[in-house]
Amino acid sequence: MKEKIYLSSDHAGYDLKNNIKNYLKKNNYEVIDLGTDNNTNSVSYADYGKKLAKNVLQNNGSYGIGVCGTGLGISFAVNRFKGIRGARITSIEDAKLAREHNNANILLFGGRQITIEQAEKMIEEFFKNKFEGGRHKNRIDSLDEK
Ligand code: RB5
Repeated sequence: MKEKIYLSSDHAGYDLKNNIKNYLKKNNYEVIDLGTDNNTNSVSYADYGKKLAKNVLQNNGSYGIGVCGTGLGISFAVNRFKGIRGARITSIEDAKLAREHNNANILLFGGRQITIEQAEKMIEEFFKNKFEGGRHKNRIDSLDEK
């Protein structure tokens, strides 16, 4: 098994989340789906973002992937939690640098904006790179200080 990854979305992110789930399982990641479970009942990205952040924080070394329509609302929700570094990813370069420089522990995608093929490439890019530490670690540590 590779990394443990929590998935969470609102209704607008449901379809992409489902496709991401299949992709991650096929690639031997441990996947825990926190919902939502359909694309018709309107739910709040705030609730699903909070759930995602809490699960990632409670499970050391785990990661999260959150999806809403744009990836914006759910990124606001997760980034209110100390210890969470949620990166809204829109390019391969974002994915690479979110790992190497920011050591992101949650990735956020816009389910109404990107395809599963694009999401797969970004997820692959994120996990194949490594956090560089050093000066980046000092900056990350200071995020959690007042
Ligand atoms: C839901 O319609 C939509 O507003 C939400 O998924 C998200 O895009 C908000 O940032």
